[in-house]
Amino acid sequence: MCGIVGYAGPQHPEPTTRPLDVALQGLARLEYRGYDSAGVATLEGERVQVTKRAGKLQNLREVLGENPVTAGAVAIGHTRWATHGAPTDGNAHPHHGGYDGELALVHNGIIENFAALRAELERDGYTFTSDTDSEAAAHLVAREMQRTGDLTAAMRAATARLEGAFTLLAIHRDAPGTVVAARRNSPLVVGLGEGENFLGSDVAAFVDATQEALEIDQDQVVTVTADAVTVTDAEGQEITDPRRYAIDWDARAAQKGGYASFMAKEIHEQASAVADTLRGRIEGGTLQLDDMSVDESVLRSIDKIVVIACGTAAHAGSVAKYAIEHWCRIPTEVELAHEFRYRDPVVTEKTLVVAISQSGETMDTLMAVRHAREQGAKVVALCNTRGSSIPRESDAALYLHVGPEIAVASTKAYLGQIIASYLLGLYLAQVRGNLFADEIAALMEDLEQIPAQIQQVLDRADEVEQLARAMRDATSVLFLGRHVGYPTAMEGALKLKEIAYIHAEGFAAGELKHGPIALVEEGQPVFVIVPSPHGRESLHAKVVSTIQEVRARGAKTLVIAEEGDEDVVPYSDVVLRVPRTRTLFAPLLTVIPLQIFACELATVKGLDVDQPRNLAKSVTVE
Ligand code: AGP
Ligand code: GLU
Repeated sequence: MCGIVGYAGPQHPEPTTRPLDVALQGLARLEYRGYDSAGVATLEGERVQVTKRAGKLQNLREVLGENPVTAGAVAIGHTRWATHGAPTDGNAHPHHGGYDGELALVHNGIIENFAALRAELERDGYTFTSDTDSEAAAHLVAREMQRTGDLTAAMRAATARLEGAFTLLAIHRDAPGTVVAARRNSPLVVGLGEGENFLGSDVAAFVDATQEALEIDQDQVVTVTADAVTVTDAEGQEITDPRRYAIDWDARAAQKGGYASFMAKEIHEQASAVADTLRGRIEGGTLQLDDMSVDESVLRSIDKIVVIACGTAAHAGSVAKYAIEHWCRIPTEVELAHEFRYRDPVVTEKTLVVAISQSGETMDTLMAVRHAREQGAKVVALCNTRGSSIPRESDAALYLHVGPEIAVASTKAYLGQIIASYLLGLYLAQVRGNLFADEIAALMEDLEQIPAQIQQVLDRADEVEQLARAMRDATSVLFLGRHVGYPTAMEGALKLKEIAYIHAEGFAAGELKHGPIALVEEGQPVFVIVPSPHGRESLHAKVVSTIQEVRARGAKTLVIAEEGDEDVVPYSDVVLRVPRTRTLFAPLLTVIPLQIFACELATVKGLDVDQPRNLAKSVTVE
């Protein structure tokens, strides 16, 4: 996920600041989408000029100076959220393409087959200067331009070779005044101006310049000049009636994609975020994990796993424990990072420590990683932020690809952490031979259904929002679950605490009768996460009994259950449905109503959902 901007304007007689002004303004509006690096490219006569810097947009502005001018009429810009290659100047976009840099290209997404394309292009004599997947696309388009002499045809031919997700923008010295773009699975919109036109990852890129936009569909190519926007399909046929629409957002609202908060936006991004984290992990039927550089022989010798994390990341680790123990038969402990090193843990060179952290900067977790490595353990980081401290100080890293998470309350990163944990568990089972290839393939096939199932749950958001609005005066809410429903209950409670400031507590459902049931009185709201009736029958039956127990004592039972599960209906005040999936995958779906509930309740209470009181997005103190 990154920010992309494009501009095509009139050819000025004198050097002008307009193209770069538009590009930099657009990147500033999109910087929330990624801030590992920033860069712009322009056409100076016959020369493609690329300026790019690691770090925030300010670094680029400093290099470009106060009034960046260009002799050209076009500009493309990019703020990066690194997926392949560290956040360095060299890996920043735009990337040059061609034997002598005659093209510049920016990319949002993940090109799954970039390694094979890079090898092919290197055999053709193209020189690569970065570690990114995107540079392969730059040389591919340049090579097709060499063959066709037409940048639109070149873009179309090149994207036909790509697998994965991309939005691409390119300029070329032999196509003055023109920006050509293409998209598949990643976002792209066109802004229609007066004598100038714009492109962006979303309308925030150009909402200051125009309120008229065009939607670009899958595998379409768009050719933009100052006076014309031409959309063609994968076969080169012109799309004569692309969907045009008015932008009714101001710039700040546009950054949130029209949602009331970044948290709401990020909740609704979860289907694509999970799809992006799964993308490209299986090749030829076997799992390939990007930076999993722990030797397979070491992984086969592991006799214990310790997951260390904090907060939501620890809840993801608790879900992972069930899956990893079930698949790999390795004892797996989950430790709060800030407790880990003070309990004098038993850690040896046969211990695999899994550090889960969205930010990669949580000091408690970083200190625990250091302690574990001092004790001889191997450490794998599951992280959403390339180049951050925790993966840097670990032996290996498995990156989420959920894009930047702006809201303090973690949602899409939570699902990404669970997915990454499952990928690690399946990789361990593959390396250690606990699961056959066909078993892993079957599990991956079911995992690949999850994004669509997440979308089904998101499509029912208004049901949950109505419930939240009806409960805006709640002062205490309990959350109950068993097995993987237990960490889900903990996560639901945390969401409500941290953004709606309501006392909430998550329990293992079986623990209720050992004391906490004393809390249940008339009208007490109790969420119950019910396991699939198609999983362990006894598990399901026991949770249904729990619903009866609290209902009998006057609780308002708010039940999250699988579609078709009628056993819960007689004892439920509200039933929120999720699609049927494997028992171990259910947390990816059952947590979503709890996220929506907390977000909507905080919103109707007029609280600052994205930056709740007393909290920070990354806790970099112990
Ligand atoms: C989650 O909603 C909280 N913001 C918090 O618990 C967070 O998960 C925790 O601080 C860990 O952060 P990390 O994933 O960046 O390490
Ligand atoms: N995969 C590309 C990279 O790592 C693009 C990432 C993005 O969308 O920002 O550079």
